[in-house]
Amino acid sequence: MSSAMQPTILVIVGITGDLAKRKLLPAISELAVAAVLPEKFKIVGVTRRADVRIEDLFSSVAQASYHSEHLEIFQMQLHETADYIRLSAHLDDIGKSFNEPYQRLFYLSVPPQVSQPIIKLLGTSGVAAASNTKLLLEKPFGVDLASATDLVEDIDHYFKPGQVYRIDHYLAKEMAQNLIVFRDRNSLFKHTWNKDFIKSIEIVATEKIRIENRTAFYEQTGALRDLVQSHLLKLAALTLMDVPDSLEDVPTFRLKALQQLHVPKDIPTIDYAWRGQYTGYREEVDNPHSRVETYVNLTLHSSDPKWSGVPIKIITGKALHTKATEVRITYKHDKQYASNQLIIKLQPDEGIELRLYAQTPGYDRRVEHHSLKLAFKDHIAKVPGAYEQVFLDALHSQNSQFTTNQEVLESWRILALVQKQWAMSSEDLVVYKPGTKPENIHHVKA
Ligand code: BG6
Repeated sequence: MSSAMQPTILVIVGITGDLAKRKLLPAISELAVAAVLPEKFKIVGVTRRADVRIEDLFSSVAQASYHSEHLEIFQMQLHETADYIRLSAHLDDIGKSFNEPYQRLFYLSVPPQVSQPIIKLLGTSGVAAASNTKLLLEKPFGVDLASATDLVEDIDHYFKPGQVYRIDHYLAKEMAQNLIVFRDRNSLFKHTWNKDFIKSIEIVATEKIRIENRTAFYEQTGALRDLVQSHLLKLAALTLMDVPDSLEDVPTFRLKALQQLHVPKDIPTIDYAWRGQYTGYREEVDNPHSRVETYVNLTLHSSDPKWSGVPIKIITGKALHTKATEVRITYKHDKQYASNQLIIKLQPDEGIELRLYAQTPGYDRRVEHHSLKLAFKDHIAKVPGAYEQVFLDALHSQNSQFTTNQEVLESWRILALVQKQWAMSSEDLVVYKPGTKPENIHHVKA
């Protein structure tokens, strides 16, 4: 497979950043071990710093053996047009050594306020115009509908649609992809995937970690923009959308599901959108008055008649009891039969759990809840990481796991009312202790 792939230069802008070290370089060495990278493959790590040593950028022996041969550092000023021209000439030199057509992937692993000027400079310096160039962008895409619209306009001005890959690494998670397959390929679930059978949907993403060292980023972002706007609304879309016949149509179907999502506007905000902040957060960011949320509890509805009346809850937070991302489907019940729950587990331990009622063997014939569990780790050696999938899809120009401009704007549209309410008042903000379970975080109505 690898020898047939187009030679590639991967430019990582922000090579010394946390993301490059923790996710990007490890993902590439995993792909190298699996022999799915092009044979002619170079990584150019861009940084402003003059003191960067390649050996400080990776942590394992496997990474060292691949990256010491394939990674090089390019120092430049990110605001200097001349440096982009110098970079482009350097990439041309590498490309010539391949002796055959090649592609250049620019991965912007930089804070959002830095990425927009870089996009403009890639455009004005002429780098973007080369048809073998692709742009890979990390979220967040803007901070609200207005700033996202501005960003989208800049991207569209300098890059053609097929050149741009907007990354939402949750879409590339194994079980996010599997969610569509699972619900479409099993008649049991396919025929019951609607309001007649399903009572409620919960998308839950708890994290044990705090904000780590990202204080400035988090103070500007908060959980609503960081996880809900991007990752969790995408999971909601994958859960609610109709399943297309072809993978290529998945983004269009996700968009349609997002277009139908809304907050129930006619009831007081606190009933459907409230937030929390863990104790110690204000000291961590050195802002005694911070109202930034580290926890979100949001209820949405869909105007798709198929989902009429089904609440879609989105719950996420930092500094909670455990790391887990799950889509929980609760089925309807009445007096004669009990409710079942289906849990799609994105992480950890990717798999599926079905909670059923059954008689527990024994003399007392107790009927109780039991779980049927499928954990992929019990069956296969390794579940690929999301960033491995992101790179592979971008290398192969497969767009379906990337997010479109319209999806970005639609997600901001869904949250606009909540953002507006939260900017006006913080009476919904509750404080919780680190390590708390989400079910123990309550909003007490005034
Ligand atoms: C990132 C967020 O996009 O996703 C982080 O900015 C968050 O705040 C991270 O911790 C979670 O990703 P994962 O793959 O570890 O669940």
